[in-house]
Amino acid sequence: MSTKIDPPPIKIVLLSLHGLIRKHEPELGRDPDTGGQIKYVLELAEELGKRDEVGSVELITRQIIDERISSDYSQVEEVIGPKTKIVRLPFGPKRYLRKEALWPYLEVFVDQALSHFRRAGTPHLIHGHYADAGYAGAQLARLLHIPYIFTGHSLGRVKRERMLETKGNDVASLEKTYQFRTRNEAEEMALETASMVITSTNQEVLEQYELYEHYQPDRMEVIPPGVDLTWFHPFSPSHPGSSIEPAPPIVEKLRPFLQNHQKPAILAVARLDEKKNFETLVKVYGTSKELRQAANLILILGRRDDPRTLPAGQRRVLNNIFNLIDVYDLYGSVAYPKTHEPQDVPDLYRWVAQGHGVFINPAITEPFGLTLLEAAASGLPLVATHDGGPGDIIGNCKNGLLIDPRDEIAMEHALLRVLTESEQWTEWSENGIAGVTEHYSWKNHVDRYLRDIKEILQEAEAPAMEDKRSPRSLPQFDRLIIADLDNTLDGDDEALQEFVDLLQGQGRHVGFGIATGRRLDDVISWIDERHLPRPDMVAAAVGTELYYGKDLTLDNAWRAQIAAHWKPDEVRKVIDQLPGTKLQDPHEQTDFKISYRLDPGNAPSVQFIRRKLREAGLRVNVILSLGVFLDILPIRGGSDLSIRHLIYRWGFSPEQLLVAGDSGNDEGMLKGRILGVVVGNYSQELEKLRKLPRIYFAKGCHARGILEGIEYYNFLGHIRIPNDQVPEIME
Ligand code: GLC
Ligand code: MG
Repeated sequence: MSTKIDPPPIKIVLLSLHGLIRKHEPELGRDPDTGGQIKYVLELAEELGKRDEVGSVELITRQIIDERISSDYSQVEEVIGPKTKIVRLPFGPKRYLRKEALWPYLEVFVDQALSHFRRAGTPHLIHGHYADAGYAGAQLARLLHIPYIFTGHSLGRVKRERMLETKGNDVASLEKTYQFRTRNEAEEMALETASMVITSTNQEVLEQYELYEHYQPDRMEVIPPGVDLTWFHPFSPSHPGSSIEPAPPIVEKLRPFLQNHQKPAILAVARLDEKKNFETLVKVYGTSKELRQAANLILILGRRDDPRTLPAGQRRVLNNIFNLIDVYDLYGSVAYPKTHEPQDVPDLYRWVAQGHGVFINPAITEPFGLTLLEAAASGLPLVATHDGGPGDIIGNCKNGLLIDPRDEIAMEHALLRVLTESEQWTEWSENGIAGVTEHYSWKNHVDRYLRDIKEILQEAEAPAMEDKRSPRSLPQFDRLIIADLDNTLDGDDEALQEFVDLLQGQGRHVGFGIATGRRLDDVISWIDERHLPRPDMVAAAVGTELYYGKDLTLDNAWRAQIAAHWKPDEVRKVIDQLPGTKLQDPHEQTDFKISYRLDPGNAPSVQFIRRKLREAGLRVNVILSLGVFLDILPIRGGSDLSIRHLIYRWGFSPEQLLVAGDSGNDEGMLKGRILGVVVGNYSQELEKLRKLPRIYFAKGCHARGILEGIEYYNFLGHIRIPNDQVPEIME
């Protein structure tokens, strides 16, 4: 007899960090960051929360306190359903920021989320959305040792290539505005960590994710999103909410534009964006006598107050449309209402379907095409670009025609066919309604989602740090100073002595730790030679070994936790054959650290080495220090995660830690909510930290710099954090 115990209900965390997220009256389309992704995560969260096997769903986003937007976004929690809520955590400035300005604060977010999980419990699974949350979620999942799911929504590499095509080759200014390099690394990290990557279409997998070094086809799952069928449904007299008699309110807004509003309509709905290709559509309509005879053209272009105050790109598109309307004298047959309410869109779909019209998406490329599904669910046949998601949609539903959006004749013919072949119209309309329900409901999405994650959870190891009991505890310090050894503590004996005296004058409430690339035995000899007091903790071999307490007891849990995916022999095979790389002394090689010395003239760049390792399918951390020391560590090792493990395990708040360092292997632990100090004699690798909050660049060198940092944060008194924010980099 087998007793089968049901697995515990799954606790799921969705991360989506930019834009404005609220459940109640979501402001979709209000700005470029508040669009399809926001709708997607809200609907996914809601549907997940309805399932029995799901214990809780938290949709975590940024808390925003800003007079320009609703105070709803400052609420720490918003309930979506009995098991589902939005949680808003503050990070970076309080005000609303566009997504490209969030990068410097992501490590702070990671620390915030850790504190949150410590209070609210660790989830079984994290699902990051877009590159920003993709990066933060990957860090959290690595640290907490829980499975990770990633959805890119759109990908930086693809966008960068398209931008270079359309906006010319000003790489530097594109980089500045869009932060492609940072975004790319974030996406690589997310892909590297994810057990599963969810995409909406096949094309995304083949043409977008494939551009990435961490592209792993076997971890990709195409699970199209659902359509909210309670909003988008065909007209039926019995369906509550179907308003056709009298005509829905949006029709009133169309009347002033249209001479004969009873005619069938060609309907297009999209943001004012060049790549939506509205100009071609208006031109095709304007130059085709048959089309003008057969139908009106209705353009829903988002909402606008004063078009003169729109951002330049949107204004340009709008002006082009106005001009074309004039050029072809389309007055009386083209409508472009100024505003609309959320309810107007489903109303309009149904109304146009009632009049046997057609929905067109003429975009140069359309990553997915949610509007197509919504139109189809309402009974409208489709004409759509062949580039992107519409191919899957029309392939599944068989409800219209694909066109090359640059081929004007094809566009005209396709529209005419739908408008004039009435039997075909009915078949497409019915196919669309049935097809969307069959292939694109959130219920179907979540069925597959849960099936896949249950498999992943079954294979996953027990989450780390769930057991918070610790065999031997660190004394109850109320603050902790952790410094690197070489070139930070070491280098100025007089300042070092002053630092030690200062610490000893504090009593037992201030702890002292060393985080270094060296081994523990080397650390101990260094201390003993100088007759210094024993540290309270040591992170040795670049955070791959942690020791605590008077006896410096090894943290075995940490060792076990970082072993995942570690294949030292294969790493050696890849790097040994590269020019200018020489293995360091055998003494420096430890269980979880392979170290080389690079010959700067001959060795390839770190980016190149990283790429080679990725191409070989190896998931590792690659860290350069002082321009010549190259360490390869397990993906879950490193100074960043080891210090966070320490914080999480011992229940410190990050502000209670001051960390000082000088070179690449210190970078990770300096970032985030922790108070960072970079000593004056720092090496080049740390220059990039200047853009980050909570990083103080001391003038003083070695231990003198640490002393200066203690002073700067008033770390031994009432702590203050003058550099909590950074001047905005862009715009
Ligand atoms: C220390 C270690 C060395 C490592 C370097 C950078 O010098 O001894 O092995 O490569 O730190 O982390
Ligand atoms: Mg150092």
